[in-house]
Amino acid sequence: MRITSATFVKSAFKETDWPSDHRPEIAFLGRSNVGKSSFINSLLGVRGLARTSSTPGRTQSLNFFLINEQFWFVDLPGYGYARAPKDVKAEWSAAATDYLIKREPLVLSVHLIDARHEPAASDLQLHAWLNHHQRPNVIVATKSDKLSNNEFTRNIARARKTLGTEDILAYSAVTGRGREAISRRILDAVKRGTAR
Ligand code: GTP
Ligand code: MG
Repeated sequence: MRITSATFVKSAFKETDWPSDHRPEIAFLGRSNVGKSSFINSLLGVRGLARTSSTPGRTQSLNFFLINEQFWFVDLPGYGYARAPKDVKAEWSAAATDYLIKREPLVLSVHLIDARHEPAASDLQLHAWLNHHQRPNVIVATKSDKLSNNEFTRNIARARKTLGTEDILAYSAVTGRGREAISRRILDAVKRGTAR
């Protein structure tokens, strides 16, 4: 993917803050701390564009980044952060599920999971829920650099079985593994969205 521009435009706390330009949107979702913001930075090759942190719960609103003046990346807050206060959790699910169900320009949801661990119950729920609502999505197993090739192969097979899909791509924000494949998926989705 050739990136000519990548700009943080806004943080949306409510629906009226969502962009109204009808450009296609790609959303990044997954558990807190899984590496959503790092994924965005490494894929675009812009360090520090999306804020990352070793403390889970860094991203709290929907963050919109305009890419190549052509489409949006939407960094969603992570779910499954056990220590978040109850009202924060409820707000998260309302804001994110609302966006994921309703959003017409949303052409692809990139669901990140941690390659090291078996998918969590919340991952299974999210995956089933996206499919139930017929939202196009792809699963990306990130932090693959933290595993040996053998471990990675084993874990991916396990994740495919647990989630009931073959459609899982490998990624690492550190080594850039998987960039090509996921870039292609994203550009295909953008093309379909733009042709509508
Ligand atoms: P929230 O916004 O809190 O939900 O987190 P997030 O999913 O955006 O995660 P973030 O990108 O902030 O990354 C969390 C931690 O994981 C940071 O310390 C990153 O440096 C680290 N990290 C993310 N991706 C990778 C990866 O591919 N490999 C390695 N080794 N570390 C990663
Ligand atoms: Mg984040």
